[in-house]
Amino acid sequence: MSLIGIGTGNPRHLTGEAVDALKAAELILIPRKGPDKADLADLRRDICAAVLGDAPVRIAEFDLPVRDASNPDYRTGVNDWHDAVAATWAGEIARNLPDGGNVALLVWGDPSLYDSTLRIARRLDPAPEIDVVPGIAAPMVLAAAHRIALNEVGRPFMVMTGRLLRSGGWPDDADTIVVMLDGDCAFQTLDPAGVTIWWGAFLGMPEEMLIAGPLGDLSDEIIARRAMARERHGWIMDTYILRRRED
Ligand SMILES: C[S@@+](CC[C@H](N)C(=O)[O-])C[C@H]1O[C@@H](n2cnc3c(N)ncnc32)[C@H](O)[C@@H]1O
Repeated sequence: MSLIGIGTGNPRHLTGEAVDALKAAELILIPRKGPDKADLADLRRDICAAVLGDAPVRIAEFDLPVRDASNPDYRTGVNDWHDAVAATWAGEIARNLPDGGNVALLVWGDPSLYDSTLRIARRLDPAPEIDVVPGIAAPMVLAAAHRIALNEVGRPFMVMTGRLLRSGGWPDDADTIVVMLDGDCAFQTLDPAGVTIWWGAFLGMPEEMLIAGPLGDLSDEIIARRAMARERHGWIMDTYILRRRED
């Protein structure tokens, strides 16, 4: 089984290794996530069409099971959801590739970063041999778009979710944080004094939006522009870097 990083929405993010892995597949599984995320399935379809041409690779689309967000225990909810997704993959593989063969999944960004595809693949029985093809991750596309380095000289940076930033505040020992998976603009819960933000949405796509500057000056503008863009497209993915000045 090949888990292939495809970058963040620009078909040109695909590496040569990713192209080779796609061409070597016998079955490609494409999840459908419902109408609000239609663009992501569309992009996966477009990538397959562009890369595969007339190659006889079977493509199976399936409806991704929905996570039960009502479960009070977040980890248990995610665990149950991963089981359900693995069972759906197993059904699709048995139906489309009954004699076995190489199955591929196109993973958004890079498979190692805030993505469960590897964890789900490990639930398959019998356990498949897994190849991972690295992809260009959202923080890399964001840093490149703003032309900044993620870390200061010799310093670490922390990558975290909006949920963690909101519940735990600015982490100790980090002067730079990268925030992903934030539907609620958790930056607005911080003391903005001395903090710079580099924000980006739809990174790598034609709709790309970039805003950078002092958090205190830009927080309201980002919240407003994010809401408008989400309204216009029906969905949004954004990532931001925050850096606190050392006093
Ligand atoms: C489930 S995670 C997947 C991350 C992915 N594996 C990666 O390497 O970037 C989804 C989050 O990645 C970030 N993201 C992915 N694609 C993005 C894009 N095109 N523009 C901005 N942020 C993006 C957002 O923070 C989004 O909430």
